[in-house]
Amino acid sequence: MSVIAERRETVFRRGRRLRRSPALRRLFQETRLSAASLILPVFVDARLREPEPIASLPGHMRWPVSLIGSVADRAAAAGIGGLLLFGLPADKDDRGEAALDPLGPVPTALRALRERDDGLVIVADVCLCEYTAHGHCGVLRADGSVDNDETLPLLAEAAVAYARAGADVVAPSDMMDGRVATIRAALDGTGLTETAVLSYAAKFASAYYGPFREAADCAPSFGDRTTYQMDPPNSREALAELAADVAEGADAVMVKPAGPYLDVLTRAREKLDVPIAAYQVSGEYAAIAAAADRGWMDRRRAALESLVGIARAGADVIVTYFALDAAAWLADR
Ligand code: PBG
Ligand code: ZN
Repeated sequence: MSVIAERRETVFRRGRRLRRSPALRRLFQETRLSAASLILPVFVDARLREPEPIASLPGHMRWPVSLIGSVADRAAAAGIGGLLLFGLPADKDDRGEAALDPLGPVPTALRALRERDDGLVIVADVCLCEYTAHGHCGVLRADGSVDNDETLPLLAEAAVAYARAGADVVAPSDMMDGRVATIRAALDGTGLTETAVLSYAAKFASAYYGPFREAADCAPSFGDRTTYQMDPPNSREALAELAADVAEGADAVMVKPAGPYLDVLTRAREKLDVPIAAYQVSGEYAAIAAAADRGWMDRRRAALESLVGIARAGADVIVTYFALDAAAWLADR
């Protein structure tokens, strides 16, 4: 047998060839994370004069509205895509009326941000739970259940207030049925036709929201959110929710949480032609942060791996508490 024939018999796939050096690995990366596709959640608190660390989200603060510019400075310098604003009001009531107040923390922060031109997309979360005394995402009936249709006009009015104050995008996270259509109609009816709607369309009733509820002071005072947020086992239903929100006029849709729902992201990406966002939620962040604190995982590697997994699954945009860190890490590779 000739030497060549003998060699050919022993040929097998040598996957390691393209992993041999950092340069080869970098060239052949199939998915590239970029800072531009990351959104940083930011909490603005009407009651504060100084930033206050959030114990459940190490490295994050609640910001006084007056300091929103310093957050934007850092975000713009890092080159991330945008900010997602959450508000904590001075006062709460049963209907969450403070969410609609044009002088509330989110509209005030939005007006300050609009004065600047730093290339960030400003997204305003639209929900009532930070503003209701009971912590649910909608208004309650006498029996304590959340009244879907009574909630819709409040959400629409909040969205209009945020759009007027300068939000590029409003992002309803309440999971009431019909809110995208209601919000779109309210925006269009008030001449705010250019404001985009990013719907938290497939939002699951998740244990991973724990740290956020401390950060935003929005834990329900009784019961849970399982009658409006989705049941974790259901991916077909998630697709139906996503498609319904696109049909109602959503410009982009979100899957939330991200890590435990990568299959939903992949299916959404295959089936829909609008941008797909994923929210790597507070518990996903906190779990990595806590394990890294104990020395059980490398913070940077675990964070970047979790984010590239979300991008690989199909997310075009990722909302993440790692946004600023990730931008710095990506710049230094
Ligand atoms: C409230 C809201 C929640 C999150 C975003 N908007 C919490 C919830 O639904 O209880 C979670 C975000 C996170 O955990 O980072 N509508
Ligand atoms: Zn809510």
